[in-house]
Amino acid sequence: MNVVLIGSGGREHALAWKMSTSPFLRKLYCIPGNPGIAEIAENISLNICDHTAVISFCQKHRIDLVMIGPERPLVDGLADSLRQAHILVVGPDSAAARLESSKGFSKDLCNRFTIPIGAYSRFSNAAAAKSYIRAYGAPIVVKADGLAAGKGVFVATTLKEALTAVDACFEGALGYTATEIVVEEFLQGEEISFFCLCDGKIAIPLGVARDHKRVGDGDTGPNTGGMGAYSSPSIITLDMTTRIMRELIEPTLQAMIEIGSPFHGILFAGLMITDSGPKLIEYNVRFGDPECQVLMMRLKNDIVPLLVAAAEGNLAGCKPEWSDDVSLTVVLAAKGYPGKLLFPGSVIDGIIEAAAAPHVRVFHAGTALKYGKIIAAGGRVLNVTACGKTVLEAQSKAYNAIEKIHYPSGFWRSDIGWMEIEREKKI
Ligand code: AMP
Ligand code: GLY
Repeated sequence: MNVVLIGSGGREHALAWKMSTSPFLRKLYCIPGNPGIAEIAENISLNICDHTAVISFCQKHRIDLVMIGPERPLVDGLADSLRQAHILVVGPDSAAARLESSKGFSKDLCNRFTIPIGAYSRFSNAAAAKSYIRAYGAPIVVKADGLAAGKGVFVATTLKEALTAVDACFEGALGYTATEIVVEEFLQGEEISFFCLCDGKIAIPLGVARDHKRVGDGDTGPNTGGMGAYSSPSIITLDMTTRIMRELIEPTLQAMIEIGSPFHGILFAGLMITDSGPKLIEYNVRFGDPECQVLMMRLKNDIVPLLVAAAEGNLAGCKPEWSDDVSLTVVLAAKGYPGKLLFPGSVIDGIIEAAAAPHVRVFHAGTALKYGKIIAAGGRVLNVTACGKTVLEAQSKAYNAIEKIHYPSGFWRSDIGWMEIEREKKI
């Protein structure tokens, strides 16, 4: 098969690597790709906002399947355009991608179809939001509607923080001015990322991971897109998976059919496992980054037939199998991230040496090639990923590999997987 993968991050590098091991694959193209992906696929420099150009490329190169990695092209309707051109694609239409692009839409859907979420209210002006917050009290969560790359969410522990967050959303401090915000009950518990592959009619579980969203050790500091992850969190037993499928995922798939927007592609439920059971924090409509990296390391199946089955509406009977190993990834980020990057374009050495260790892979997330050298070209730059029998073993392999990398203007958390390691010590 000839496959096109859309995207350029660590998630796409992990997907490209996994696809490249498939005997069904004849040729893999990545639009636009990155230097890591270039080692296993042909990178194509095309504007993914130009749907006509993407369709022409697919027709010219006899593409059998398109896999869309990030949310932006999905929200912009790339999957709609490809389907209209009769090209097989994994990813929801833009109407179904509202599950991620509009927090108001997904909350209202959950409410209407009794899918467990925290209490919430939607506001289109600051005064009304503030008076609700004053009446409710802290802790409380304030979220700007729309895609904000993890930056539009404020988990406020005090009233003052919550009120400031409302102003930040409506006054453009996020880089855009929100027209609507959602104010939400603070959910206490353990947060996990739960993935499903969906074919419009049914969903099958496609792995679970724990992401470390905060920038600093001990889960402190501002939220990021994710500083590291591991799979699989022990809190998600088989029984819990069944419960999540029954209480959240299956009703959501059914709801999407009922509103006339059947969901195709990857459904990513950000869940809080509370004392009263799993509750939805948010839906995303694609793989998580860096969760995808740890999932691809553990997935035993060939991913290409799974994706084809999803795109063709044929998932019944498909069953992803997982390695018993733990996989763990550490994100090497540019100093300054998630704020302004301090030393863009700095050179990184030692990636090949780091990736040479057994059971270790280094995925490129935000890199570029300049004069034959790999340079940092983004906030999250590399994902050093390892497998082991325990979280501790996977963690030490990842950190040992990082020692081989010379990236003085980068930083990373030193405790990815810490909570699970505490648990392992108690067993
Ligand atoms: P979101 O973009 O909605 O996933 O929010 C980003 C992060 O904020 C989540 O991954 C959680 O860690 C945290 N968060 C969001 N909503 C809540 C909530 N209702 N209760 C507690 N934490 C939350
Ligand atoms: N790591 C969380 C996300 O991809 O949204």
